[in-house]
Amino acid sequence: MSKWRCVVCNYVFEGEAPPDGCPVCDQPKEKFVKEEAKDRAKDVAAMKKATRKVEYGLHVIASKDGDKLNGQVANAVMQVTTNPTTFALAVLKENYTADCILDCGRFTVNLLGQDNHKLVRRFGYRSGREFEKFKGIEHGITDTGMPYLTGGVGWFECEVKDGYTIDCDSHWLFVADVVDGDGLRDDVKPMTYAYFRATK
Ligand SMILES: Cc1cc2nc3c(=O)[nH]c(=O)nc-3n(C[C@H](O)[C@H](O)[C@H](O)COP(=O)(O)O)c2cc1C
Repeated sequence: MSKWRCVVCNYVFEGEAPPDGCPVCDQPKEKFVKEEAKDRAKDVAAMKKATRKVEYGLHVIASKDGDKLNGQVANAVMQVTTNPTTFALAVLKENYTADCILDCGRFTVNLLGQDNHKLVRRFGYRSGREFEKFKGIEHGITDTGMPYLTGGVGWFECEVKDGYTIDCDSHWLFVADVVDGDGLRDDVKPMTYAYFRATK
């Protein structure tokens, strides 16, 4: 039995061949890579059993390309330092959002609530190269021109630090200062990656 990992959302499938599509992010089977036992850990299976237990929030990362607003779903977001407050974000290089962030050096992290499944479907499954993701979606614009969602549970704006765009093979890792933001709804719990998988 082999393990196949979706390079887009990291879902792992066990079987002789990859699944026809990813049950979490709907990517086609071409997006699955075989998990090679090349890791230097002594017990790869045990190691992965541990790393998959890391909990993630689910967010919409928004940015823009000239006047065109765009965004994508990402779980790969974490706080790095508290003073100043910096966050890291990993984005697949082929995503339009990666191009937007490389171009303007900014993005917003939009924290989704447990009732925001529609926003995940809107931003997580098709590229903004094909359509206007923000059309008809309620949003605001920060002082620097970045879009943020008003239907989530909060948002913050990030400015990528000089020299902190790191090439991680398939992904860009952006380390950024938090420069603006607001908490929105306190009565709804934030959406986690695990909650979305269980309820999608
Ligand atoms: C649940 C879920 C989690 C995802 N997590 C990430 C992530 O952490 N990083 C990433 O680059 N893409 C992630 N994606 C995939 C992007 O959201 C997706 O490929 C999107 O269509 C890219 O849009 P764009 O080309 O407009 O940027 C995730 C998708 C889903 C549904």
